[in-house]
Amino acid sequence: MSKSITFSMIKPDGVENGHIGSILEKISKAGFKIVALKLTHLTKNDAESFYSIHNERPFYNDLISFITRGPIVAMVLEKENAVDDFRTLIGSTNPLDAAEGTIRKLFAKSVGENAIHGSDSNENSIIESSFHFSNREMF
Ligand code: RTP
Ligand code: MG
Repeated sequence: MSKSITFSMIKPDGVENGHIGSILEKISKAGFKIVALKLTHLTKNDAESFYSIHNERPFYNDLISFITRGPIVAMVLEKENAVDDFRTLIGSTNPLDAAEGTIRKLFAKSVGENAIHGSDSNENSIIESSFHFSNREMF
């Protein structure tokens, strides 16, 4: 199977709680190659654009406040079957439902503040990666 990419970000709770190093270690040990990486802080406009798919959902305003309240770590990851394998590594959206050993089980506290994002399709992995990085920043 050929390599593919997924986009991820460590969300503000994961950064605030000091989990950047531990999460990057889990990602590397699971066989993902980091092809782009940065600490950044989303503006309200950035967040509304990134999460526009959820703008009718009841949790949308909370999601925008949360994701803009502090820095995030944005990254592009490469591996065979990257999107699905990464969603397995991070676990269910609600950390209470997440499998043992997953990133959300280990580092997240609630469905609203769940430590990490992972793309949900190959198409979205490319849209989300291009939203955060130029071609010159992806190796
Ligand atoms: P993500 O996009 O962040 O990887 O999460 P996901 O696919 O597992 O979940 P999704 O349905 O795409 O929801 C995006 C993010 O919105 C927040 N959320 N809050 N309070 C709630 O009921 C609720 N539901 C979703 C979470 O931060 C979720 O990751
Ligand atoms: Mg999602």
